[in-house]
Amino acid sequence: MKVIDLRSDTVTHPTKSMLDAMASAELGDEGFADDPTVNLLQEKVADMMGKEAALFMPSGTMANLSAILTHCERGDEIILGDLSHIYVYEYGAASSLGGIIYKPLANADNGTLDMNSVYEATKKLSARFPNTALVCLENTHNRCSGAVLPQEYVRSVSDVSHNNGTAVHLDGARIFNAAIAQNLPPKELVSTVDSAMFCFSKGLSCPVGSILLGTKDFIAKAKVMRNTLGGGMRQVGILAAAALVALEEMIDRLSEDHHNARLLSDGLRNLEHVRVQSDVIETNIVIFEIPERDTQELLSLFGDRGLMVSNPYGDKIRMVTHYGISEQDIYDALSVVKSVVESN
Ligand SMILES: Cc1ncc(COP(=O)(O)O)c(C=O)c1O
Repeated sequence: MKVIDLRSDTVTHPTKSMLDAMASAELGDEGFADDPTVNLLQEKVADMMGKEAALFMPSGTMANLSAILTHCERGDEIILGDLSHIYVYEYGAASSLGGIIYKPLANADNGTLDMNSVYEATKKLSARFPNTALVCLENTHNRCSGAVLPQEYVRSVSDVSHNNGTAVHLDGARIFNAAIAQNLPPKELVSTVDSAMFCFSKGLSCPVGSILLGTKDFIAKAKVMRNTLGGGMRQVGILAAAALVALEEMIDRLSEDHHNARLLSDGLRNLEHVRVQSDVIETNIVIFEIPERDTQELLSLFGDRGLMVSNPYGDKIRMVTHYGISEQDIYDALSVVKSVVESN
């Protein structure tokens, strides 16, 4: 039976050209900063994103955590969305490991935080209150159906936060999806934030790897933090080689994933009983529910028919389009959902 795996864009495998590049990568010891392929990747990404420096990371979670711990002192407070990946899925690591206080604000359906609330939350009151050191944004927003943050909004949050003496970090795990969806150069999406991270291991199909961006000084401190967390690596040019291929070959094709996600959401909307979370699908994530049906049973009925999906929270079902998923796969996935819905 053919399996269509829409659980996440992290299920992708490296492409043939990535494997070839990995096999022939020039390697050194990243611990001594002499892995030429890692150094090349870091320089290339910093240049392409218009930031002073970049640091290769094992994962997005470690990149976010290293960034927060670099921006903040113990006892500082960070502002973030109540649906953000950092708040919901990263184990409260900045709190448990770094003594950081999380102050979540409500995420609107489009992934934004209310501007006035950001202003109020970052306003310095008196020494009786914790120091609000950082605002974290997420673009695209995973739990908000891959919503793209409007660039004007990112700029306004940055301005308000900076005026209040607070830095801004962008969790841009899927930054290229946001760039392609808005037809903007990726560097524009990070131009107003102090630090940003993105992942190679999601829509770009690399097996492992994320990268953190910021000033030279920030990245030097973040490197100490990453290594403190056990994220120092050795002949990791083998992974950086795949990332370099991803930058050349995997960005422009993300529009196919967005097209397929729209096909999927349009098809789901046409099915009785199915409720799609978001009216507009901007990138590659579709979240829906089928009220009055047991979600775990639905997952298992889909699975029996070769369709793999995820259950990110509550009764929500999530499908993510990615490299290797064709338009025909979308029609086949919709047939599976239709047959299960009608089988009730
Ligand atoms: C928005 C967002 N940020 C961060 C991460 C964490 O990345 P990683 O799985 O590489 O730790 C993810 C993972 O799915 C994500 O979706």
